[in-house]
Amino acid sequence: MADLDDIIFSTRAMRRLKPDPVPDDMIEKILRAGQAAPSGGNAQNWGFLVVKDPEIKRQVQVYYQRAYDEGVGKHYAERLASMPAGETREKLERQIAAVHHLTVHFHEVPVWIVPCLDVGPRGPLGMSGASVYPAVQNMLLTARSLGLGSTLTCRHMMFGKECDAIFGLPDNVVSFAILPVGWPEGKFGPVARGPLASVVHKDRWGTPYF
Ligand SMILES: Cc1cc2nc3c(=O)[nH]c(=O)nc-3n(C[C@H](O)[C@H](O)[C@H](O)COP(=O)(O)O)c2cc1C
Repeated sequence: MADLDDIIFSTRAMRRLKPDPVPDDMIEKILRAGQAAPSGGNAQNWGFLVVKDPEIKRQVQVYYQRAYDEGVGKHYAERLASMPAGETREKLERQIAAVHHLTVHFHEVPVWIVPCLDVGPRGPLGMSGASVYPAVQNMLLTARSLGLGSTLTCRHMMFGKECDAIFGLPDNVVSFAILPVGWPEGKFGPVARGPLASVVHKDRWGTPYF
């Protein structure tokens, strides 16, 4: 078992993934970690769709690519002008290339885990995602601990209704992410973040904690 710190600080978006199959017992381990996460009131009103069907993945990839072509790609390019904390231009350019790579090859990733929530007849509320994203992070960390790569992706939600119909979700169930899971082509590296002091405040916003 790897050290928790090692896992947390090297769980990065891995967007270049091999099409090679992933053993079912590893997928089960990832799903168990997801199910161990908290949900509001312990309602556990989630469902985890495991998608391997190439045709279903291909149909959803069309929307994932369309969202990129219709704006997301441009947004990434604009970020070069205002670099996120802890990033360098070179790293950001690599990220942009990797985002494009995953967009084009999304459906070729062998397994997708699609975390969903039963949102009832009212539809999702502002806090709904808080009952599914802890499960997502547990799954990303477990995939990393097994040497598998993944990325939290939400872009398909720009065409959420269309994609959820392809997934065969009933009206009361909404997908909140797609986690493409596969063996990474490259190596895991440390996450890039800015100085902790720049994002931590004391008592009232604006007073430095450190
Ligand atoms: C809410 C959310 C949505 C995201 N959606 C996508 C996505 O659709 N496609 C993608 O390639 N990455 C997506 N990401 C991954 C982030 O871009 C990535 O985690 C971030 O750039 C930090 O990079 P790192 O994980 O390598 O440190 C998403 C992350 C979050 C938290």
